Amino acid sequence: MARNVSIVIPVYNDPEGVKETLDTVCNQTYEKYDVIPVDNDSNDNTPDVLENLTRKYPDLISPKQEVEMQSSYAARNTGIEHASGDVLDLARQRSSTRWFKQEQVPHELLDQAISVAAQSPSACNRQSYEFRVYDNPEILEKLRELPIGVRGYAENIPCLVVLVGKQRAYFHDRDKHTVYIDASLAAMSFELAIETLGLASCSINWPAIRRREKQLEELLSLDPDEEAILFIAVGYPDEEGMVPYSEKKPLDIIRSYNST
Ligand SMILES: Cc1cc2nc3c(=O)[nH]c(=O)nc-3n(C[C@H](O)[C@H](O)[C@H](O)COP(=O)(O)O)c2cc1C
Repeated sequence: MARNVSIVIPVYNDPEGVKETLDTVCNQTYEKYDVIPVDNDSNDNTPDVLENLTRKYPDLISPKQEVEMQSSYAARNTGIEHASGDVLDLARQRSSTRWFKQEQVPHELLDQAISVAAQSPSACNRQSYEFRVYDNPEILEKLRELPIGVRGYAENIPCLVVLVGKQRAYFHDRDKHTVYIDASLAAMSFELAIETLGLASCSINWPAIRRREKQLEELLSLDPDEEAILFIAVGYPDEEGMVPYSEKKPLDIIRSYNST
């Protein structure tokens, strides 16, 4: 079975915690996942508990070890190196979602997704963008009225990300398009990462309409070289909400080899 999600769990000296966590994680109704607990060189009986759990859930658990560095980040990175979630499945699973539960999106999850986005390629590695996240109700109310493409569902959006490009990252006019490319690549990684975290998203066009641009500049105190490139709605998907079917073009329409 293709796995959409690999759950990486750093572990250190916590036999009871690891048992409770893994028993819970391994008893979900969702099936397309695997679990990678990474023992961070425990010196109690945590490794034995992990071994027993691996025997109990052999199809789900693939334990790993991080013995060189004592830190949950090192353990997490070791786990990520072994993660096997299928990218094609993930890309197929994502779809633009416009109906969200009225629940706060945890900042830790947004940070995780933005960390994934930060790994995207960018010209000269300049990362000429900023993910500006808005979930404060007062600002959100003003902000979600500004793009045109959210008519009918604006009030439903619990969190809006404004992806801001910064021209100061590039010194020549000839490179002024690169902020759009940097931001677009980061946006896609962000939206796929959001999907792996049980969240959903929708890109929202930011139109080049001077009046709206001015309103946004004032609301977000944008510097003269900064401009919004894309809005992204984020939230927990409302299972009752409709998701439009978006058929993708066949491969032979969108690609060619050695075409002259
Ligand atoms: C640059 C860009 C702008 C978009 N603007 C809007 C928008 O203003 N409102 C909206 O509801 N969806 C918007 N979308 C989402 C598209 O409608 C959606 O990606 C497309 O229909 C394909 O569906 P899928 O994302 O589910 O595959 C935008 C997508 C992109 C990439």
